[in-house]
Amino acid sequence: MDFQDPGMIDPFGRAISYLRVSVTDRCDFRCTYCMAEDMTFLPKRDLLSLEELDRLTTVFIEKGVKKLRLTGGEPLVRKNIMHLVRQISRHLKSGALEELTLTTNGSQLSRFAAELADCGVKRINVSMDTLDPDKFHAITRWGNLPKVMEGIDAAQKAGLQIKINAVALKDFNDHELPEMMRWAHGRGMDMTIIETMPMGEIDEDRTDQYLPLSLLRAQLEQQFTLSDIPFKTGGPARYVTVSETGGRLGFITPMTHNFCESCNRVRLTCTGTLYMCLGQDDAADLRAPLRQSEGNELLANAIDEAIGRKPKGHDFIIDRNSKKPAVARHMSVTGG
Ligand code: 5AD
Ligand code: SF4
Repeated sequence: MDFQDPGMIDPFGRAISYLRVSVTDRCDFRCTYCMAEDMTFLPKRDLLSLEELDRLTTVFIEKGVKKLRLTGGEPLVRKNIMHLVRQISRHLKSGALEELTLTTNGSQLSRFAAELADCGVKRINVSMDTLDPDKFHAITRWGNLPKVMEGIDAAQKAGLQIKINAVALKDFNDHELPEMMRWAHGRGMDMTIIETMPMGEIDEDRTDQYLPLSLLRAQLEQQFTLSDIPFKTGGPARYVTVSETGGRLGFITPMTHNFCESCNRVRLTCTGTLYMCLGQDDAADLRAPLRQSEGNELLANAIDEAIGRKPKGHDFIIDRNSKKPAVARHMSVTGG
């Protein structure tokens, strides 16, 4: 880079330093709170190539992105994904990028963990909502818990730090979450609990699934001593330490505590659409400026223009009166 880009500052003065890239909207699971069983996915011809994704992420890094997370769908089901990881890892080596991470359902981790570590990935998030194999199969529809456990073993063996992400689901895993936390902390892993968000049509009623974390926290506090800590990983989780386990527990509370004021991120889909907020429909097409010229000027301008439209926040609600999800797209399009 031969000029210093001023970086990306949105209309509310928030510096954008975190890019999440959904490399595919496809997934080898069908979690009931995330997808309908008969999901229609984007046509393959609409996907950006890995080279295009590399070019796009490079422009974002030149514009000030320091942390990059690959998500999906399930990022590890994208064909040849390790090629992209390897390419992006050059920015870790140069120091332009501080962290490259991944959110995965763990199904393919046993195959890829060692290579991820070799590319400079240090931490990953593994999404997992229960430790019971039958319940795991029920909630993911297609998932296999022992396979995910193998993946977690492989990742720890490769030296990757793991954070377990569990979505809190009323009458499904609420009673089990303390045990999961003990398990995660016992293996030296952090754990984060997430409130379910109204994104995309699913087959079930979200009102039946939604569990406010304020309630769950109060329940946990009857058994555990939780102390708030200022620890941050660049995401929206608020963390506590748990005296009894010595581990860290995070809460992601888009519903009960809106954290938009400190938002530092934007989300890119596998078709080159940039979403400036997880909970809003407004988006910017970056594929056209990417393909219109070989230089990056059009693209950089389109990104600036998009950041200039970043909204103040989301307005998610889940109640019996709001029949429609806050946004029509599923989490798997923009990757959580
Ligand atoms: N609300 C909250 N979390 C969700 N996830 C998927 N769909 C939803 C939803 N509607 C979670 C997954 C994974 C992460 C990528 O997003 O469980 O942890
Ligand atoms: Fe796949 Fe993750 Fe959605 Fe489950 S929550 S279906 S693992 S993208």
